[in-house]
Amino acid sequence: MSVCIVYHSETGNTKKVAEYVAKATGATLIPVRDCAGYNKITMYLLGIPRARAGDKATIEPPMIDVSTFDLVVIGSPVWAWKPTPAANAAIAALSGCEGKKGIVFATSGGMPKDTLPVMKSALEGKGVKVNGSFHFSIKELGDEKKLKEFVDAIRSAQGKT
Ligand SMILES: Cc1cc2nc3c(=O)[nH]c(=O)nc-3n(C[C@H](O)[C@H](O)[C@H](O)COP(=O)(O)O)c2cc1C
Repeated sequence: MSVCIVYHSETGNTKKVAEYVAKATGATLIPVRDCAGYNKITMYLLGIPRARAGDKATIEPPMIDVSTFDLVVIGSPVWAWKPTPAANAAIAALSGCEGKKGIVFATSGGMPKDTLPVMKSALEGKGVKVNGSFHFSIKELGDEKKLKEFVDAIRSAQGKT
């Protein structure tokens, strides 16, 4: 069973988790870039109201065809207790995902609040059956036990455990 990990990461934390998990499972990484090109200040000034409003960013790539994969994993940083506008856009940009399995994950400073439920609901709106969600606080980014749980969930969906 083939797996893709579609993720947004502005400062590298979500990328770190995505890369760890991809290395352990053989998943294909699909990084998504927010074309807004935030700096440290505009990320907060513009990013927070956009995330809070549930906006969808202009992203690169603009369309994400996942029809060749069986499991779709989506990762987002937490911004203002929500997924980022780029992650919202990434889910909206998916095609060929109807009927596939899905897992969502997020990284945060420790207060993810609505993020995973919002991502799960959006992904389910695309016809994906979401059967796992994982959150990593910044302190947990290198937590081998938590990372292994995530890897095991993917392997189990792949029928490897
Ligand atoms: C604009 C902005 C808003 C954030 N809002 C939250 C938040 O609501 N809750 C939280 O726990 N962390 C929050 N954080 C911290 C990030 O979620 C955390 O650093 C995350 O791991 C960043 O992921 P990245 O490095 O992949 O971009 C925020 C960070 C930024 C830049």
